[in-house]
Formats: sequence, structure tokens, C-alpha cells
Amino acid sequence: MTGDQQYWTSRPEVGSRPDQITLLLPDLEVTLETDSGVFSGARIDRGTRFLLMEGAVPTQGATELMDLGCGYGPIACALAVRSPGSRVWAVDVNERALDLCRSNAASAGLDNVVVTTPDDMPDDVAFNAIWSNPPIRVGKAALHDLLSTWLDRLAPEGTAHLVVQRHLGSDSLARWLTGEGWTTQRRASRKGFRLLDVSARQLTDTDKDQP
Ligand SMILES: C[S@@+](CC[C@H](N)C(=O)[O-])C[C@H]1O[C@@H](n2cnc3c(N)ncnc32)[C@H](O)[C@@H]1O
Repeated sequence: MTGDQQYWTSRPEVGSRPDQITLLLPDLEVTLETDSGVFSGARIDRGTRFLLMEGAVPTQGATELMDLGCGYGPIACALAVRSPGSRVWAVDVNERALDLCRSNAASAGLDNVVVTTPDDMPDDVAFNAIWSNPPIRVGKAALHDLLSTWLDRLAPEGTAHLVVQRHLGSDSLARWLTGEGWTTQRRASRKGFRLLDVSARQLTDTDKDQP
């Protein structure tokens, strides 16, 4: 992962080196502009490809979907193609990535992608499903905080679909999620990556009464 250690900063300091890659999957092909200073700008990340090849496929209909940590948008654009009636919220902190994701969705004619910072995300949206190749390298505390924030925005029947490298702690993350009340199942495992399906936390009446 040389050159993109700081991909989660809001304004990458590294100079711009625009590039173009193709997201090619059995059911879709999207051209994506990339750059330095964003995650995996030289090629589609292997974990992302695994999530899109073997992860959950979005249901059809008017649903609210999220790509948490969208980068330049491979997951968000694939979801938007696969579920044209849904709204896909593409969220990131890296402004260069957000600009790329916005223009990539526009160039592909995907007007159902809404690109935003976490701060600008409206409070009243509940997600039917979240997909994420999460930023493991931000550190355990920040990652747990990030996942807690957004998994609690799942609708009651919602599910999150995560891809995590085994050597970056997928199994301990799954244990932590389960311990915190998000039922977590391993959907698939391949070449050092795990796909985790995480169900919305079921709050008891007592939990709901808490301030
Ligand atoms: C592993 S990368 C995945 C990028 C893209 N989805 C892909 O598959 O190529 C994780 C992304 O999470 C973003 N990120 C880091 N901290 C974040 C936060 N607090 N909120 C939202 N996104 C964040 C990073 O900037 C990065 O783009």
C-alpha cells in the first residue's frame, strides 16, 4: 500500500497524478478516474473486488444504501448500477476521493449516487444496507467508533457487508461486533480476506429508553 498511507486525511498533501482504471465485473463495466492520495488509486483493491464479486447484491426497489468510505467510488458506482431505484450515499472524509467519486458517478450517468462527507449526511436517513471496505488502518479505536456510528444508522432489518483482511484483524473485529450486539456472520473467505455480514443491533425496550 505504498503511497497511500494517508489516504484518509481530508486534504491529501501528495501532488495530483490523475489516472484512469476500469471496474470490470461480470455484470458491469465502469470507467473510474483515480489519483494519488486516495486508496488504491492504481487498481481496484482486491478486497473491494471480492466484496463486489461474492458479497451481497443489493435488492431492487427504493432503498437507502451506503458505501462507507467510498474512495473514488468503485463500490458506490457498482451499487448504483445494480440497484438503479435505490439512492446510494457515498461517504468519505478525503475530499480528493469525494470529488473523484462525484465525477465518476456523473460520467457513468449514475444520478442515484449522493456523495457527501460524514458531517453533511442528513440525520434522518436510515440505511437498508451498508457496504464497506473499511479504513482499518485508522486504528482500532477510530474504526470501532466509525462502525458504531454508522451501523446504528441501519434500518431495523438492515445489514452491513464488510470486507476485511484476515491479517488486519477481521476475526477479532467480527468478535467485537458480535460482543457489541451486531450479529455478525462470515459470508465468505478467500485469499486472506473475509466478507462479514452484520445485522442491525436489536435494541431492547430498556435500551430505547436510554437518553
Ligand atoms: C479501504 S478504503 C476503501 C475505499 C473504496 N471504497 C475502495 O473500495 O476503493 C477506506 C476509505 O475510508 C475512508 N475513511 C477514513 N476515515 C473515514 C471516516 N471517518 N468516515 C468516512 N470515510 C472514512 C478513507 O478515506 C478511504 O477512502
